[in-house]
Amino acid sequence: MKLSLQSKITHCDLLVLPFYEGKKPNEYQGDFEGKKNETILLYQKNKLTPRIALVGLGKQNESTAETWREAGGTVMKHFKKPMHSITIVPPKEDAHLVGAFLEGLLLAHYRYETFLSDADRKLQPIQTLTVVIENKTAHKTLEALLQEILAVTEAVKSVRSMVNAPSNAMNARTLTAEAEKIAKAGKKISIKVWDEAKLKKMGMGCLVSVSNGAKEKSRLIMLEYKNAPTNKKPIVLIGKGICFDAGGLHLKQRNLEEMKYDMTGAATVFGVFQILSRLKPNLHVIGLAAAAENLLGEGATKPGDILTAYDGTTVEITNTDAEGRLVLCDTIAYAVKNLKPEMIIDIATLTGAAIVALGYELSALMSNSPHITEQLKQAAHRTHEKVWELPLEPSYKKEMKSPIADLMNYSAAPSAGTIMGGLYLEHFTKGTPWAHLDMGGSAWTNENKPYIPKGATGRNVRLLWDFLKHVS
Ligand code: BES
Ligand code: ZN
Ligand code: ZN
Repeated sequence: MKLSLQSKITHCDLLVLPFYEGKKPNEYQGDFEGKKNETILLYQKNKLTPRIALVGLGKQNESTAETWREAGGTVMKHFKKPMHSITIVPPKEDAHLVGAFLEGLLLAHYRYETFLSDADRKLQPIQTLTVVIENKTAHKTLEALLQEILAVTEAVKSVRSMVNAPSNAMNARTLTAEAEKIAKAGKKISIKVWDEAKLKKMGMGCLVSVSNGAKEKSRLIMLEYKNAPTNKKPIVLIGKGICFDAGGLHLKQRNLEEMKYDMTGAATVFGVFQILSRLKPNLHVIGLAAAAENLLGEGATKPGDILTAYDGTTVEITNTDAEGRLVLCDTIAYAVKNLKPEMIIDIATLTGAAIVALGYELSALMSNSPHITEQLKQAAHRTHEKVWELPLEPSYKKEMKSPIADLMNYSAAPSAGTIMGGLYLEHFTKGTPWAHLDMGGSAWTNENKPYIPKGATGRNVRLLWDFLKHVS
């Protein structure tokens, strides 16, 4: 797709005219007011611009990047027919607002179609996307943003596709193949993969145990992006990569078919690496994806079993469905011991309790570092990928102590499930600056949103990229 800026309107399949409430251009008829996400399609005999979409941005004094992003997404939802060339004429030549509009439009142009045979059901690519902009400074700023908008939106869509892929197509091996593709495409990226035999030898008892009841065995995948002085400590991103979570012997009672999305954290980390690979910022980032499948075949880990983690901590398994923390604890312990991280951020669909606490829009944030917390909150504000901080309440720690091992992986009391998950992981950070993002609610949507279609949301790729750009 060609994304470009022009100073006047030329032929296109679709002309998009966003406008503020009450400020509809006079030449267009109709009672449309320009309320947020209100749209109308007009047809003209004029061959230059045969179709015009008017889209409302809402009240000008209430407008934000997000209202522009949503309007951009809303426009795309209305077209069943292919629109090969689209031109946008913004009512205000503000590069960041226009950038957000483009971002929304591109993010909405997505469908998971790997398994669709019927060509009609597939989305047609946009060939040219043009913005008409006259102001020279706005033109310059926006031009500098275009490559980033493309890299970021494509990464988000690639994450959605990894997550929407069913578990028979996306398992620990194919997830590894995704990482290998990323490493191959980017000069500054290297990859290392540990298989089950190696993980066992290294002492990753918790990570390995999760796949005990599955044919597909656990893997640890490491991507490293290095474009910084050699003494620069890495920022380590860790993703939960459970390709299917049946719950193990504590078999889930509901929504089993959705549990292919339990590898969202790993996919999100890979999405960030796709951006690093294309935009080449001066950073040192290591990504770790802990891949496993939580099934209940012969050999499955049993309730009451005691495992030994990479750092020697012994863990009594009181619930086989609390498997995310098992793959993550070994991975965090590995990073702490071997990678000298400046900080660690883990990202995971860790708990259903995150839905109870925060619903489907927000990700839960827990951290031992006020600095990282603040930076993540600012990134959340800028990207509109919302986070809400939950406390790592120290008095709850005692609930995790097992009478016969150092820890247990699940305790029914107190009932703050998301916090308990965070506290469990904190144990393995040994004071390394760290943050934990629980995407239990925010990874998936059952309703179409302006720029997020039903299914995997692809959220938090933009959040983490924005965080990396600003953190120092
Ligand atoms: N992958 C689930 C969490 C989850 C559930 C995410 C539903 C999104 C939607 C996780 O492995 C899990 O099963 N967690 C348990 C934890 C409990 C056993 C401590 C949960 O949330 O019930
Ligand atoms: Zn589970
Ligand atoms: Zn899980």
